Amino acid sequence: YLSAKAKVFVAPAMDLDMYRHPSTARNLDTLRADGVTLIEPAEGYLASGLTGKGRMEEPEEIVKVIEAWMDASASLKGKKILVTAGPTHENIDPVRFIGNYSSGKMGYALAGECAARGAEVCLVSGPVSLPVPDGDIRRIEVTSAAEMHAACLREFPGMDAAIMCAAVADYAPAVCSDSKIKRETTGEITLRLVPNPDIAASLGAIKTPEQKLIGFALETDNEHANALSKLRRKNLDFIVLNSLRDPLAGFGKDTNKVTVIAATGEEKSFPAKSKTLVAADIIDFTL
Ligand code: C5P
Repeated sequence: YLSAKAKVFVAPAMDLDMYRHPSTARNLDTLRADGVTLIEPAEGYLASGLTGKGRMEEPEEIVKVIEAWMDASASLKGKKILVTAGPTHENIDPVRFIGNYSSGKMGYALAGECAARGAEVCLVSGPVSLPVPDGDIRRIEVTSAAEMHAACLREFPGMDAAIMCAAVADYAPAVCSDSKIKRETTGEITLRLVPNPDIAASLGAIKTPEQKLIGFALETDNEHANALSKLRRKNLDFIVLNSLRDPLAGFGKDTNKVTVIAATGEEKSFPAKSKTLVAADIIDFTL
């Protein structure tokens, strides 16, 4: 390994407690920082008899990752792609905010995969604790939906595509107190909330026929119908539907299960996979 000049992939396999151990996490971070691509273990039945995360990814999936890397390492060369990721925080006072559980993992995986395929990526990120993935990625860190909106409106005109993966807060407090609100002096309070701008819809309203716009939908009910109406309302070219009902999909998880629907009516469902592999599927279908 130390003398290898080639691209290196690691597909670890171990028992779930070993995988969860902080020393394993540190070692994997070191490998990632050295440019190694980690093919995350899957969840399932383990050799120890336990069930959990640690199962080596299926060989077919590993081969797919490597083949995709070989085919794709230049497929987005010359393209500029905007990716939004993470939550937004809407301040109530200097120490409190309204937010949500988005970890940013899916958006960061998409940014990393676009860069791995040769794109120039602008990653507009809400507050998350993730490192910028390898490659040509310029990260713009924002806190609120208003800041994310401003950054996206500024960056979008120069882009070939935008992938709107952020979980933007729908509402923000109408006023943000300059000083910390004190229970002792204030007593009961009522927060008045005002709607935030819809960033995806704003980009949908100004996109040119050459630009592609991809959004996400996280639905609990009438998933398909809601995703379709969102696609039309925001003038998207594609919408990625992930169901909160699926135990392998959603906030904070390392895995996701998606259906991608195109404005043309074409659609494709994928099985649950690591977010890196899901990012590759989404990019294959949309870009
Ligand atoms: O309407 P809903 O929040 O379900 O739409 C989800 C999609 O729209 C996601 O792609 C999300 O990033 C985007 N969005 C946005 N700005 C908002 C709300 C959602 O860009 N204020």
